[in-house]
Amino acid sequence: MALPKIDPTTTKAWNKLLAHYEQHKDTQIKELFAADKDRGKNLMLSWNDFLVDYSKNRITEETLSLLFELAEEVGLKGAIKSYFEGDLINQTEGRAVLHTALRAKKGDKIFVDGENIVDEVFEVREKIKSFSEEVISGKRKGFTGKAFTDVVNIGIGGSDLGPVMVTEALKFYKNHLKMHFVSNVDGDHVHEVLKELDPETTLFVIVSKTFTTQETLTNALTIKKWFLKSAAEKDVALHFAAVSTNLEKIGEFGIADENVFPMWDWVGGRFSLWSAVGLSIALSVGYENFEELLDGAHEMDLHFKEIPFQKNIPVVLALISVWYNNFFGAETEAIIPYTQYLHRFSAYLQQGIMESNGKSVDRNGNRVSHQTGTIIWGEPGTNSQHAFFQLIHQGTKLIPTDFIGFKESLYGDKDHHDKLMANFFAQTEALMNGKTAEEAKAELKKLPEDQLQALYPFKVFEGNKPTNTILIKKLTPKSLGALIALYEHKIFVQGIVWNIFSYDQWGVELGKQLANTILSEMGNSEIGKHDSSTLHLLQFFKE
Ligand code: F6P
Repeated sequence: MALPKIDPTTTKAWNKLLAHYEQHKDTQIKELFAADKDRGKNLMLSWNDFLVDYSKNRITEETLSLLFELAEEVGLKGAIKSYFEGDLINQTEGRAVLHTALRAKKGDKIFVDGENIVDEVFEVREKIKSFSEEVISGKRKGFTGKAFTDVVNIGIGGSDLGPVMVTEALKFYKNHLKMHFVSNVDGDHVHEVLKELDPETTLFVIVSKTFTTQETLTNALTIKKWFLKSAAEKDVALHFAAVSTNLEKIGEFGIADENVFPMWDWVGGRFSLWSAVGLSIALSVGYENFEELLDGAHEMDLHFKEIPFQKNIPVVLALISVWYNNFFGAETEAIIPYTQYLHRFSAYLQQGIMESNGKSVDRNGNRVSHQTGTIIWGEPGTNSQHAFFQLIHQGTKLIPTDFIGFKESLYGDKDHHDKLMANFFAQTEALMNGKTAEEAKAELKKLPEDQLQALYPFKVFEGNKPTNTILIKKLTPKSLGALIALYEHKIFVQGIVWNIFSYDQWGVELGKQLANTILSEMGNSEIGKHDSSTLHLLQFFKE
């Protein structure tokens, strides 16, 4: 079934939300708490090891029920069914969107073109298992008979960000293999990485869904050239593996068939870490942990698919975000994990969220009249508190923020963890409560009156800044899998509400085309037709 094509601004719920916004836009969150002593308990969802508190938002029961009405009116229920059943919901590319099938259970049945794809998924998973186990145990060896010590993932975008983010996030669970990532076409990136490596003990994994991406192919060829300074052509088969849908191109590179890991066009690059794109993850933390990651995501899939909207974590978080984006005009959202392990989490989600929902044409092919994708940014707490939190607290912009924290730390250092989490809880409280003029004056009461009067306005915090708190028992492969899947489904819900296609990315193509034109002019004496700015810049570069 095709996705519904309903302009959200024409729904009854949208118009009720507009009126509701006018009435409640100045509502103070702390007053909502004062009026309902159980608000903290009422607006909280408990699921597996997750506690999701969405009470510190500018929402009432009525806001929520109107948002759920909106979800019903835009056909979210049917859309979720289409998503999980493999309908061609990536309509502009004629593809299904089935990253959820990559974490299905053995025996599940999901069909694409009449074939049950779960069987193929498990065949590839078996291959990831045996390959990674042989590398980790040292059974698989390099061209001089030595075991591998280092692994280099060569890829960009979804073929890099997911593997980097997860291997960093699961560092606590990792084995002896040293992981490296080469993504940028900037030659200084690859040469810095190669500087540390020994060709005899390094395994290279080329990851590219299309196997046509300029950055990845350039890096792969540079690395192959470097490798061949020490080894023979036939040794490429021992040291290079590849993950792609483009098996023909892989063959041309000289990679042995047994080191080729297929993927499928029903997996989008930015949702592909669950496929063989995650080979580096399995190599870094072992196949069992990789499987746990998939299981965690699968549990979140079931939650999203089966639980009523009112208790459904991705649905609730997605709709609250729509409320700020489309009614309050908030343009950005911050995601702040209170664990250093998740230091690449926001960067990873930037691709997932912004490449998916950065669209301005609706599913009918018309320019949208409403705002779509939010801008995502963030860094771990507490570092971010000492960097950009000032703007969230006292700036002029409304920045809804997700706080992600864990009950237990991995090394169990209570002193550190208590300090970390004290900050975590303090920030959402401070953002909500702010500091009134009276409180600011009371703090300055020792100053002479004229100084107090001059200083206190700068010490006032308006407060009323919305936050969600996602508190998880412990950072494990499983909880990480569930957390990533939560945001994936949030993306889906928002795309449905905004009536856009979330799973194509035509916008990145234009820059690629122009770069190819300019590249062809680099070696020529003649520079082609450009605007005067680009022309002067190119002339300066070439001189
Ligand atoms: O440029 C965008 C993009 O197509 C992403 O969606 C994708 O993750 C990335 O490029 C890399 O593509 P590939 O895996 O085909 O090399």
